Amino acid sequence: MGGAARLSAPRVLVLWAALGAAVHIGPAPDPEDWWSYKENLQGNFVPGPPFWGLVNAAWSLCAVGKRQSPVDVELKRVLYDPFLPPLRLSTGGEKLRGTLYNTGRHVSFLPAPRPVVNVSGGPLLYSHRLSELRLLFGARDGAGSEHQINHQGFSAEVQLIHFNQELYGNLSAASRGPNGLAILSLFVNVAGNSNSFLSRLLNRDTITRISYKNDAYFLQDLSLELLFPESFGFITYQGSLSTPPCSETVTWILVDRALNITSLQADFLRDVTRTIHIHSQFPTVLLRQMHSLRLLSQNPPSQIFQSLSGNGRPLQPLAHRALRGNRDPRHPERRCRGPNYRLHVDGAPHGR
Ligand SMILES: *[C@@H]1O[C@H](CO)[C@@H](O)[C@H](O)[C@H]1NC(C)=O
Ligand SMILES: *[C@@H]1O[C@H](CO)[C@@H](O)[C@H](O)[C@H]1NC(C)=O
Ligand SMILES: *[C@@H]1O[C@H](CO)[C@@H](O)[C@H](O)[C@H]1NC(C)=O
Repeated sequence: MGGAARLSAPRVLVLWAALGAAVHIGPAPDPEDWWSYKENLQGNFVPGPPFWGLVNAAWSLCAVGKRQSPVDVELKRVLYDPFLPPLRLSTGGEKLRGTLYNTGRHVSFLPAPRPVVNVSGGPLLYSHRLSELRLLFGARDGAGSEHQINHQGFSAEVQLIHFNQELYGNLSAASRGPNGLAILSLFVNVAGNSNSFLSRLLNRDTITRISYKNDAYFLQDLSLELLFPESFGFITYQGSLSTPPCSETVTWILVDRALNITSLQADFLRDVTRTIHIHSQFPTVLLRQMHSLRLLSQNPPSQIFQSLSGNGRPLQPLAHRALRGNRDPRHPERRCRGPNYRLHVDGAPHGR
């Protein structure tokens, strides 16, 4: 798994052969944007994960880095750290707004410059500013998250990408410096109920407006705190960006209680059942709705359809890195109780 650092000679030869072919047939690629999750896109070679570190000198960490992400978290390796404070979210009491965007690789929500959303606490020594919410998902249920817990994937992973605004002026400067980035991950299962923030973000009205690459749709009045489960623990480790340039400046925080998504909104379900009376076929409806995320295309409408799903990097070796968590395995009955297991929301009128 995740053999980026263990490319064999034949694979490198295949790479150069493919590069040669691309030079002759494709338009000149933008070197900063010339990567993909799957190697064969419409016959043209676009480097997939095993090649990221080889095609651009600035991305060499993708191949030779020793603290790469994502990883498989084996819970028995997680060290309990009773000194980890709870996570804090600051929104200044304002609702979030921004643009939902099909980047051709991810479903991305880019918050407007105001209000600033900060996260701190947990393992973070500084206040970090939210710069993107990113959604990764699979072609089938139970696969699609980048991280895994005990070798188990999830249907989707929501990544909240933040940069250290106390030390750096912007995301790209922070991604190159120590303590630069913090990424908070939440896992998502397909179930009969849905997280209310995800329902606002992903419903019939929004999803259908970002069907193709570069489609964007403006959203407002979002309450980010509703994304988090009411109580949860977290696991943290030092890793990297899971996209080029794979910079090893990321403090990852993985929320250990999965969210649910029914795929689309409950009102849509009600409409469907009212109009065609298929109460007994609810599971079919749910399945179709998850399908609608998978029907988003990586390409503009002029090009062939390719699903965005499967937009994750393969697992990378954890090696000797420490995994720390704020749940005490010796007291399972006390799991997720008390103030350490809640999100602390500053400035919000109805903070939990
Ligand atoms: C976010 O953090 C910055 C820098 O620490 C601070 O100036 C700003 O007031 C914070 N915003 C909120 C909403 O807490
Ligand atoms: C980010 O910050 C760096 C250093 O402060 C600066 O040189 C660069 O132009 C900034 N980039 C953007 C996109 O603003
Ligand atoms: C997700 O749904 C399951 C049942 O399908 C439920 O037990 C669990 O509490 C839900 N998770 C959250 C975070 O609401």
